[in-house]
Amino acid sequence: MAASGHGWWPDPILAPAHHALKKQSKKKPAARKQAAMGSLRVAELFAGVGGFRIGLERAGAFQVVWSNQWEPGRRKQHASEVYTARFGTEHHVCSDIATVPTSDIPDHDLLVGGFPCQDYSVASTLKNAKGLVGRKGVLWWQIHRILDQKKHKPRWLLLENVDRLLGSPAGQRGRDFAVMLASLNALGYTVEWRVINAAEHGMPQRRRRVFIFGERGVRMPGPRFDAHEYLLKEGLFACAFPRAEAVGDIIRFPIVNDLARLSRSFNQGTSRSPFQNAGYMSGGLVWTMRLKAVPTEGKVLGDVLVPPDQVAPAYFIPKRELSKWKYLKGAKKESRATANGHRYHYAEGAMVFPDALDRPSRTIVTGEGGPGPSRFKHVVLAPDGRHRRLTPVELERLNMFPDDHTAGVPDNWRAFFMGNALVTGVVERLGRELARRAVDR
Ligand SMILES: C[S@@+](CC[C@H](N)C(=O)[O-])C[C@H]1O[C@@H](n2cnc3c(N)ncnc32)[C@H](O)[C@@H]1O
Repeated sequence: MAASGHGWWPDPILAPAHHALKKQSKKKPAARKQAAMGSLRVAELFAGVGGFRIGLERAGAFQVVWSNQWEPGRRKQHASEVYTARFGTEHHVCSDIATVPTSDIPDHDLLVGGFPCQDYSVASTLKNAKGLVGRKGVLWWQIHRILDQKKHKPRWLLLENVDRLLGSPAGQRGRDFAVMLASLNALGYTVEWRVINAAEHGMPQRRRRVFIFGERGVRMPGPRFDAHEYLLKEGLFACAFPRAEAVGDIIRFPIVNDLARLSRSFNQGTSRSPFQNAGYMSGGLVWTMRLKAVPTEGKVLGDVLVPPDQVAPAYFIPKRELSKWKYLKGAKKESRATANGHRYHYAEGAMVFPDALDRPSRTIVTGEGGPGPSRFKHVVLAPDGRHRRLTPVELERLNMFPDDHTAGVPDNWRAFFMGNALVTGVVERLGRELARRAVDR
């Protein structure tokens, strides 16, 4: 699906959700009063070890009134333990979000969460209340269910995901994001998104994630709406991360409200997603364009390293193991065989080894912990010439968490948490901008 040939206003079938057209109330919104008092209420879903919370609390004006974290299939709930050890057990629930009744979640102004990227296709259309159901176990539908059932819906929504979401699934590129946008539109939200690489904004890790901001009660833009201006100067992301320039033109297209139809037919038969790395959706119309950040120099991997005497011996790579690490990190072109004997050609490029200290780090992955040789774990050269892995505190610093935030659980878990978490500095900047808007508007 490319830019549509539609005129500016959508077809009747694509008409915006009625609430998007509602006039904005002249009354002082509750969120504004709350911000002025220094407490916009936040519900944190898929909380992990609290990356959103740390960023928002640093931004000021936010108070987490409820949080949820549960690691599927685990008896020991380490992430939830870390969360409650830092923030207290009150208002925290450690159970599968699918089992939490919406009525247990207090009213809030902002719903946040970094949720897994899964298949969002819509299985069927039902004749029940809202008529739509997603696949079981798909966590996006839990966010949707909460927003749908809440009588007082949060004014704002801030979600984080891998940027692959904009182009998934492979056979129908962009369908999952289209389903998300259409379902948020039906709930009365406008949506803005931007792919943000923390390292391009002075932060110490190259971590690229899509941030999705939903807002309720916004009037649909009029015919003079300048999407280019909005995405570069006026939107939440433009204000929080202003150093960006357009690389292409605005692409504009409508998405249908019928989720089952959208899920079946969106972008069938093409190999590219229409969703670029920045965009806006209001009333079922999408404006999207490719932006390039103008990089800001800032922190680098070398800045987060702890002094040598604080590195436990287990983090140093024994000399006898070094060749295995070098092999895994190196370029390869070789013939390999599958378990059933099928031979295939395997090739991959070299990784920088050891990791460069004068650049922001590569992305931390969940398998970062443990002594076993790996292509993806970070390895740095210590001043005494030995190679070593990164310590839990260094991984925390790459995500801009407080030192030892995750202390108290095994090191492998600490590394796993940082592979799942986000760069809190990104949330802090978005939080500052949101808090400013809550007071200004
Ligand atoms: C991408 S991580 C989010 C990490 C978080 N933003 C942080 O800073 O640590 C997603 C989290 O969702 C949790 N999760 C997965 N399935 C869940 C479920 N059914 N109910 C509640 N939490 C779940 C995972 O355990 C994981 O911690």
